Amino acid sequence: MSQLGVSPDRLEALHEDFDALAPETFDSPYPIYADLRERCPAAFSRAWGGFWALTRYDDVAAALADPTFITSVQNVVPRLAFTGRRPPLHLDPPEHTPYRRALNPLFSPRRLEALEGPTRAFAVDLLDPILARGHGDICEEFSSHLPVRVFGEWMNLPEHLRTVLREAGRAFNIAVQSFDNEEVKRTSGRLYDMAREMLELRKAEPLDPLADPTSALLAERHEGEPLPEEMILGAVRQVLVVGIIAPTVMIGSICVHLSRHPELQDELRRDPGKLPGAVEEFLRLYTPYRGFARTATQDVEIGGRCILKDEPIALVYAAANRDPAVFEAPDEFRLGRPNIARHLAFGRGPHNCVGAALARLQLRIALEELLSRTAGFELDGDIKPTRCPEIGALSVPLRFHR
Ligand code: HEM
Repeated sequence: MSQLGVSPDRLEALHEDFDALAPETFDSPYPIYADLRERCPAAFSRAWGGFWALTRYDDVAAALADPTFITSVQNVVPRLAFTGRRPPLHLDPPEHTPYRRALNPLFSPRRLEALEGPTRAFAVDLLDPILARGHGDICEEFSSHLPVRVFGEWMNLPEHLRTVLREAGRAFNIAVQSFDNEEVKRTSGRLYDMAREMLELRKAEPLDPLADPTSALLAERHEGEPLPEEMILGAVRQVLVVGIIAPTVMIGSICVHLSRHPELQDELRRDPGKLPGAVEEFLRLYTPYRGFARTATQDVEIGGRCILKDEPIALVYAAANRDPAVFEAPDEFRLGRPNIARHLAFGRGPHNCVGAALARLQLRIALEELLSRTAGFELDGDIKPTRCPEIGALSVPLRFHR
């Protein structure tokens, strides 16, 4: 019987195609992925116990459409989950389905409309002090806070838990970024405590399931039965962080691009109607989740390589989204690409991002407010890149012109 992961023999015998642990800059991963796409579309790295990386759009899209590739063994490289199974991300259909059934309506157009006003108020409140000062780190002071606040609103968190989430969510974010596994476990534990408290609150006094995620999970039935409480707890804990990290990085990366292209800033300032299209192109070009992982339930051959059952496979969305076979001049920002809807920044298939509409809303509003309240901005120091499994900017010092 094969063991989960890459066996020690294979780890030694397989040729390493790239070093996933090599230091990176904000721009350096993309030429490496371009090379892998061209030369070695199923690439092996010994990092983190060994894993495969698929970088071509068609291979990634095919894996996402094929139930041979499951998510419940390991959903990301490097493995991050030390503290339990958390739906929906850690389950495969059909076990996964009731959690999505409960969560999908929480992102309806009506719900998003209700979130637009608070999101804008949070954005303005966070931007005011940095813009008044004339300089600041857009990630540190703005984009790491905005999603946490929006999240508190979406989850209808009581005020005291919003404060805990701000602190614990941020500590978790930092621990993940610094590969501090002990701290990840500790902060994850704090988020579990929060989730537990939310569950007790909503059990005692449920809210409208169409407007409250915890109440929706409690009201959901699978084959006539309520969902197991441990799994509801895992799902509440899961959504507590999954929507926080990506917008932080994404807004940082967008600001890097706009600093390098003042003419694009001006164009979007003049014509904010172009912002939704720009957000999609930014999502393609600076896909903030580098990729998620799947595991094959049988041996498979991809790009001429044999990948064994149970070996982790990273689907590198950030590389697929720059595949020239699908996106012409893929490293360029181009408004109005005819096939932009095909980008994989939100994944695809059963695990596609349930919060995509809320993510788009936050990104659009963040940009609307940043652009309309400044006459221009530029880089004011070094960009600090984030690390696997994210890709993009973690710290972006900016100087603003009013
Ligand atoms: C720029 C922002 C975001 C990006 C790029 C993003 C990206 C993704 C991606 C790529 C996946 C698929 C995972 C996979 O393939 O296994 C995913 C799943 C998910 N996302 Fe997002 N996300 C963002 C924001 C959000 C927000 C704001 C929320 C919630 C408020 C959210 C909630 C989730 C959940 C619950 C899943 C798991 C879905 C499932 O397994 O069925 N995300 N996201």
